[in-house]
Amino acid sequence: MSVVEVKALEKTFVRGFFRKRTAAVRGVSFEVERGEIFGFLGPNGAGKTTTIKMLMGLIHPTGGSAKVLGDPIGAVRAKRKIGYLPENPYFYDYLSALEFLHMVGRLFGLDAKTRERRANELLDRVGLSMAKSRSMRSYSKGMMQRVGLAQALMGDPELVVMDEPMSGLDPIGRKEVRDLLLELRDAGKTVFFCTHILADASMLCDRVGIIVKGELKDVGSLDSLLGGHVQHVEIHAQGEAALRTKLAPKVEELGGKLLDRGEGFGVELASTQQADAIVAAIIEGGGRIHELRPHTMTLEELFVRESGTKAEEMRS
Ligand SMILES: Nc1ncnc2c1ncn2[C@@H]1O[C@H](COP(=O)(O)OP(=O)(O)O)[C@@H](O)[C@H]1O
Ligand SMILES: [Mg+2]
Repeated sequence: MSVVEVKALEKTFVRGFFRKRTAAVRGVSFEVERGEIFGFLGPNGAGKTTTIKMLMGLIHPTGGSAKVLGDPIGAVRAKRKIGYLPENPYFYDYLSALEFLHMVGRLFGLDAKTRERRANELLDRVGLSMAKSRSMRSYSKGMMQRVGLAQALMGDPELVVMDEPMSGLDPIGRKEVRDLLLELRDAGKTVFFCTHILADASMLCDRVGIIVKGELKDVGSLDSLLGGHVQHVEIHAQGEAALRTKLAPKVEELGGKLLDRGEGFGVELASTQQADAIVAAIIEGGGRIHELRPHTMTLEELFVRESGTKAEEMRS
């Protein structure tokens, strides 16, 4: 069963005296399956937060529809089973993290004993035990992000929805969040998160959706989106200068490239069949193969292809 079902969802913001229109989400459709980690990827301004806010019932769509845990968006019934981390979590910073989680636990209807146990477990899990009784006013952005993660899990949700969960964290913090999300999946939860950082997504996601300028460009498993596409094959070899001279026209005929590579040389070709022919020619000419490497597409390359956006924007 799909945990999230989004159908032709649209949001156009209308602002100000001149009623300026921004089509933030333009007819997006996708599904998130139970028990998977689904990454919603796109550069800044792509419409990720707007989509998530609609799913959380915080803003109304101007078109289309969506269901979360079987209920139309906004239905109260499902909400207790959803943990949500907003984009810029801002909490009552006069409270300590422990007090805040108690408050969240009360909203979820947990009894005092359960609240106390779960709040302490979660703060420990996100690495805040040492600071849990201190007012959150003194917390850094990364610590606030960790409180945000903990509060999203306070209700022991079936579905976790997180808007840029790695934001504000250093590489170690990001690794910790990735581990946390994997742990949630192993515990049978469904994780739906958005990010503009491709590296995090490629290490985590079972499936991804790529959103650019409000439109969904691609949805699927990383394997199906990236695998299979052997982009090119690289051969690294060594041999006499005469061998190189003999190979040059063959490589050119195949549309490949002959490259200098330290002690030896490299050949770049478009397919494994072409590589087989060149490998045979190298061996026949007395040369030696050091390496034969097929290159499949990376998430960055897919992203650049789908969006025309530079991958650099998706790295930090
Ligand atoms: N409340 C709003 N009013 C007007 N425009 C908005 C509002 N919220 C977002 N937008 C615009 O919608 C687009 C998508 O924004 P957003 O969903 O926040 O993108 P992302 O989360 O992918 O960075 C942007 O152009 C943004 O400026
Ligand atoms: Mg956003």
